[in-house]
Amino acid sequence: MQTMAIIGAQWGDEGKGKITDLLAEKCDLVVRYQGGHNAGHTIWVNGQKTVLHVIPSGVLHPHCLSVIGHGVVLEPENFLAELAKIKGITPVTPENLKVSATATVITNYHKLLDAAREAQGPEKIGTTGKGIGPAYEDKVSRRGIKVKDLLDKDTLVRRLSNGYAEKAVLFKHLYQIEIPSIEEEVERLYRLGESMKDYVTDTFSLIDEKLAKGKRVLYEGAQGILLDIDYGTYPFVTSSSTAGAGIYTGAGIPGKKLEEVIGVAKAYTTRVGEGPFPTELIDDLGEEIQTKGHEFGATTGRKRRCGWLDLPLLRYAVKCSHLTSIALTKLDILSNLRELKVCYAYEVNGRVVECAYPGINLYGAKPLYKSFTPFSDDFGGGKPSKEFEAYVAFIQESLGIPVGIYAYGPDRNQVVFRQKYS
Ligand code: IMP
Repeated sequence: MQTMAIIGAQWGDEGKGKITDLLAEKCDLVVRYQGGHNAGHTIWVNGQKTVLHVIPSGVLHPHCLSVIGHGVVLEPENFLAELAKIKGITPVTPENLKVSATATVITNYHKLLDAAREAQGPEKIGTTGKGIGPAYEDKVSRRGIKVKDLLDKDTLVRRLSNGYAEKAVLFKHLYQIEIPSIEEEVERLYRLGESMKDYVTDTFSLIDEKLAKGKRVLYEGAQGILLDIDYGTYPFVTSSSTAGAGIYTGAGIPGKKLEEVIGVAKAYTTRVGEGPFPTELIDDLGEEIQTKGHEFGATTGRKRRCGWLDLPLLRYAVKCSHLTSIALTKLDILSNLRELKVCYAYEVNGRVVECAYPGINLYGAKPLYKSFTPFSDDFGGGKPSKEFEAYVAFIQESLGIPVGIYAYGPDRNQVVFRQKYS
């Protein structure tokens, strides 16, 4: 297998970092294709925790080339700070980390705008406040700044001036916020560009070249399919293409197609921020899962909302991204719960719906549950219990694709491969 992708199959935070880190060992390149530092990919190795935001999760394997593709929105200050931190853990050089020259830059005013809009309402999205949406807006309106623009002062002035007056008026008169002057922002961004220039390259051609040489490429998704700008629960989504299609637009697979697409799903469901959540548990059990699963956002520290596994949404995720197998994570959190349920379908306007679809009113979807005998496995190396097997088998049968991996703890070793990814 030469091309493989790891995609969040829910609303993010499924444990993609851990699965990417594990599979990166067998790959030559790990490529991020969308999102930015709104992501928080946590990896535990020998009791040491590393949280990556925009640097690909393959970086902990020195043999791997980590690539930040052109579909990513990059905040240079944050990137350099993350780089400095990672350098203290593992060797990172311009030889094993590359940033696309055409990735879009997140500037200070994007962050200010994100925060101002969330404060203003009336419909809050619950963003991470990192400037992600405003930066993608500028990209789509053709006013974005690309990483390569940071390397030439004249180009930077020209690109930044494009629309800056409009922004200054908007901030001053609507939000009563003074944004930095163009001169200040140019100086800041140019300085940051100088510090990162050795990492900047044409990543599309790089991936092309590596694929032609038979190298193995792993694409690492951020957030999850249900947060996709097109496939997700709009408007409560992020602003990028988190689903499989984003790989083709945000990094490219020149001359190839994806062979394996692993959807990472928690054995229950979580969501941060606003938006519908049919299986949400607003009771003691929801609290118990939240506490036991340490369900706090890795980037914002916010409490995650928790609920049962939602198969109609997962079936939808399988279809939107052509998932070929599932990595089921955090099974240890469900062990020893006093009850265990899975939503196998919804009732919507008196009709049974097995697969969610765009346009469905999730607020009006009544989850239909199947109860399972709770399992109490300690995953200490013995055979899994028949209750555990029944739970996993039901998920697998319902989705029509194998559960190829399951994870039962944060560490690299706390995982079982039921399928070979080679
Ligand atoms: P934004 O990506 O900061 O614009 O946030 C938009 C929505 O996506 C909000 O509901 C966030 O909580 C959610 N979101 C963004 N990044 C992540 C993530 O990495 N994990 C989970 N949710 C996320």
